[in-house]
Amino acid sequence: MRVHAEFSRSADTYEQYHMIQQKVVNKLIGSISDMPQKILDIGCGSGAVFKAIDWELEHFTALDFSESMLSKHPVSKDITCKLADFNEEDTLEKISGDFDRIISASALQWAVHLDRVFAAIAAFKAPVSLAIFTCNTFESLYKCAKLKPILRCSDEVITLAKKHFDAHFEVVTYTLAFESPREMFRYIKKSGVSGGRRVLSYKQTKRLMQEYPHNYLEFEVLFICN
Ligand SMILES: C[S@@+](CC[C@H](N)C(=O)[O-])C[C@H]1O[C@@H](n2cnc3c(N)ncnc32)[C@H](O)[C@@H]1O
Repeated sequence: MRVHAEFSRSADTYEQYHMIQQKVVNKLIGSISDMPQKILDIGCGSGAVFKAIDWELEHFTALDFSESMLSKHPVSKDITCKLADFNEEDTLEKISGDFDRIISASALQWAVHLDRVFAAIAAFKAPVSLAIFTCNTFESLYKCAKLKPILRCSDEVITLAKKHFDAHFEVVTYTLAFESPREMFRYIKKSGVSGGRRVLSYKQTKRLMQEYPHNYLEFEVLFICN
């Protein structure tokens, strides 16, 4: 499974290269006003969501399928770290316990069957705070390389989400500027945003580095909150 390999590989450098994901976490957590006590974090990584929470918690359940990411998550008696793959049938369905809020930041774009994952999240009958990268991420880069985006478009995700959640939807675009094309391509490699899908050969990457006319990358994130 390539996505797993990519996140495990980038676990050591993830913290250095996750500026956009940190902005996403800050926005997601900043919009929560009900101070939920029991939280499930799906695709928790090294714990950005947990670290951003500034109120007392009763219990935090952190789920991720990358052992190396999960090993960097804070631990305490009030935290359960769960090594599990949300793409495997029944992973979410088998999680017992009631939650006051389900959070997922920058992970569900890798859901193979997003409709099924949304249904499983909705079955917890808890409010949600979900942030999902969508198809205009790396828009200019894809255009320059004449490639189709690999992520779902926000309209498609909103249509699916509306079946399961009575929520507020917001699409936010971020840009990140780089000092050189080399820095930009290193970021793509190290940040884990590509999810391990190598869509360009070495030669194509080299050409794209020479031809890409901008010094920035775009990121498009859909926030689903209620
Ligand atoms: C971009 S990181 C985000 C981590 C964290 N939520 C944050 O905001 O910093 C995406 C995380 O999702 C996890 N992930 C991706 N696909 C997954 C899957 N199928 N099951 C469980 N975790 C998954 C990766 O291992 C990675 O830790």
